[in-house]
Amino acid sequence: MIKIREANINDAERVEYICKMTADEKSKTEEKAGKITSTIYASYYIEEEPDNAFVLEDDGVVVGYIVCAENYRSFKTVFTSVYSEKVKNLSKSAGLFARVLPFPYVIFGRKYPAHLHINLLPGYRSNGYGAEMIKLLEQKLRGKGVKGVMLMASKENTGAVRFYKRNGFEIIISAFGGVVMAKSLR
Ligand SMILES: CC(C)(COP(=O)(O)OP(=O)(O)OC[C@H]1O[C@@H](n2cnc3c(N)ncnc32)[C@H](O)[C@@H]1OP(=O)(O)O)[C@@H](O)C(=O)NCCC(=O)NCCS
Repeated sequence: MIKIREANINDAERVEYICKMTADEKSKTEEKAGKITSTIYASYYIEEEPDNAFVLEDDGVVVGYIVCAENYRSFKTVFTSVYSEKVKNLSKSAGLFARVLPFPYVIFGRKYPAHLHINLLPGYRSNGYGAEMIKLLEQKLRGKGVKGVMLMASKENTGAVRFYKRNGFEIIISAFGGVVMAKSLR
């Protein structure tokens, strides 16, 4: 049976695995590259804010997730002191990237304090689960009084950009092959 449920810390390993498996070829096949990717894009969220995450489960196995940092300031503080340090220990250049990664969230953070990442394994896409998970997260953030949510995506990921637009996000900036998209929750 397929269902969406609230996440918890025990989902960390599976969320990190899905993060790698939905990333670039190198992250899928090379252990170190995969570890860097999952530390940057998954570990903070599922370890520090599991209450702001939902998972898609098929017969008890997690096959997709939506994770979120509720507030850019706490994200930047913890991500920079803990997670970008872990990344730096794996690779100096990736550590530098991790160090600057929070800046777009800070720049747009007053209007859109939260940001999200969503990934489903291939067999589970285009069934409406992503849209449902976005709605659940928005409901949760609205309940906490969070006034907006943003995300970053690659311009080349036209399917994802279309998906976010359909779910009420708009592009607020487009640069260096990427887009920043955001949605007000007021
Ligand atoms: C993007 C994603 C979360 C959407 O969830 P979903 O459950 O597939 O979405 P829905 O069923 O609600 O809506 C379907 C839409 O999702 C998008 N989508 C479907 N498969 C996709 C894929 N492989 N890559 C990117 N977007 C995809 C398309 O816009 C699709 O609409 P279309 O059928 O008109 O093309 C999911 O497809 C996914 O995990 N894709 C791969 C990873 C990814 O790109 N994550 C976002 C990184 S910024």
